[in-house]
Amino acid sequence: MEHEIRATADGSFTVVKKDQGITYHSLHGAASESMHVYINAGLQYFADQHPDAVIRILEMGFGTGFNAYLSAMWATGQLRKVVYETLEKYPLPASIISAYADHLKPGILFQQIHGVSWNQWEVIDPYFTLYKHTGDIFTASFQQLYDIVFYDAFAPTAQPELWTEEVFRKIATTMNPNGILVTYCTKGIVKRALKAAGFKVQALPGPPRKREMLRAVYTGSSL
Ligand SMILES: C[S@@+](CC[C@H](N)C(=O)[O-])C[C@H]1O[C@@H](n2cnc3c(N)ncnc32)[C@H](O)[C@@H]1O
Repeated sequence: MEHEIRATADGSFTVVKKDQGITYHSLHGAASESMHVYINAGLQYFADQHPDAVIRILEMGFGTGFNAYLSAMWATGQLRKVVYETLEKYPLPASIISAYADHLKPGILFQQIHGVSWNQWEVIDPYFTLYKHTGDIFTASFQQLYDIVFYDAFAPTAQPELWTEEVFRKIATTMNPNGILVTYCTKGIVKRALKAAGFKVQALPGPPRKREMLRAVYTGSSL
């Protein structure tokens, strides 16, 4: 099998792509990282600043669906409307998702997220609408303008082509003014590419065992 499930340091689980030795989440804690970077520093932060708005999220890299699941849990728990588009070039096989769920033991929203069809809008809950988009970041056309981007590509060591000014410029075209992009990756080349694409970049304290993470605000103009 090309993939396997692995426990991470906080007791939650991730998927490993065995041929390349890359993981879908941090081995220091999959749930801790996703909660810290995407939910707390991304979704909760934006929601606090815009208390009445519908929140539109674009995720780069659906993977296991864990970030989508956490976002759906947040939306239904907070009674805040979230519209979520997620892009994935290589959907994981159903057998891996099922093995991952056996370990994770998630709530019903996880099954609902995986049960919906690709490439169409689905209302999963009055507070969570989802579009699972199969495609490649280089050719995809996005469905809406977004407030938050969860940039969750594999690391630049594995896929350097996904962390360039060109890609961040494309992402910027689908963002609302003053929208934010959050990512776990803090490499200098990533900060420089984001700045060149018109983002104001801020380093924030990172999740467990990582010094920093990035939150970048799209200012609407490149320098
Ligand atoms: C770090 S994983 C995402 C983890 C995911 N957010 C989760 O919660 O499980 C990165 C994902 O990006 C996908 N990917 C790789 N190249 C891509 C491309 N060119 N366009 C879109 N998705 C891509 C991979 O297949 C993988 O699922």
